[in-house]
Amino acid sequence: MVPAQTGTAARRWLVTGASRGIGHAIAALASGRGDKVCLIGRSPDIVRVAADLGDDAIGIAADVTKSDDLARIGEEIGARWGGLDVLVNNAGLHRGGTLDRVSDQDWDETLATNLTGPMRVIRAMLPQMSAGGSIVNVGAVVGFRGFPGDSCYGASKAGLTGLTQVLAAELARRQLRVNMVVPGFVMTEMTSGVSERASKAIVSRIPLQRMGKPEEIADVCWWVAGSTYMTGSVVFTDGGLMCNL
Ligand SMILES: NC(=O)c1ccc[n+]([C@@H]2O[C@H](COP(=O)([O-])OP(=O)(O)OC[C@H]3O[C@@H](n4cnc5c(N)ncnc54)[C@H](OP(=O)(O)O)[C@@H]3O)[C@@H](O)[C@H]2O)c1
Repeated sequence: MVPAQTGTAARRWLVTGASRGIGHAIAALASGRGDKVCLIGRSPDIVRVAADLGDDAIGIAADVTKSDDLARIGEEIGARWGGLDVLVNNAGLHRGGTLDRVSDQDWDETLATNLTGPMRVIRAMLPQMSAGGSIVNVGAVVGFRGFPGDSCYGASKAGLTGLTQVLAAELARRQLRVNMVVPGFVMTEMTSGVSERASKAIVSRIPLQRMGKPEEIADVCWWVAGSTYMTGSVVFTDGGLMCNL
């Protein structure tokens, strides 16, 4: 059986956290290549951001931590498109600080957004996804390697890796693939607060000696989403950071 998304028909994408950064780059790439894309972000501005991509893009203001919002997205996708081919769990937040400075709120919000959120989004979208569909979760290097001051973020992304692998095995019988793309150090709002000194220190450990661009992560998400014999895989897109830590 040849999965649906290898054909020439436009695929239907849902990208969470698409108002800016990596998520926006993924949505723009898919839209620019002729696919239909639903962009998710918390601010109502997401409707305008989607409109700027063209007629085949829609924006829905929703919070991935809120079950009611997710049910609403599922209903809207079903009504508009009759299903979904690609789901990208990209929405995420970062809270840093050594463990003695991590508040319960930091921990809860990070886990809710980066781990529980993707689980709930997948669960809410499953009824829309048919055989041949693809789920791409966006991980992080610190989910694989210890980085001081990143306990909540690292734990949330490590959990997402586990979820990716369990669901790859669980959903294979439905012909759904589940993979993870792992960006390294990428120029977005999330990293804009990193000091120049810290930034230089990180870049010095990246074999390619530079930060990544959101478009470079989007490019990998595009081909991972379309790969027909890949599931449960983790694809590092990090300028070599993982192999140098
Ligand atoms: N930048 C890096 O170096 C890097 C490295 C490794 C992994 N990553 C991962 O890549 C993904 C994208 O990061 P980024 O760097 O592009 O970050 P970003 O510029 O801060 O963008 C984060 C996106 O997530 C959305 N978002 C946050 N919380 C949300 C929620 N509860 N519900 C819905 N949307 C939510 C934000 O939109 P609103 O604020 O409008 O809701 C925004 O669109 C994240 O999962 C991040 O952990 C980034």
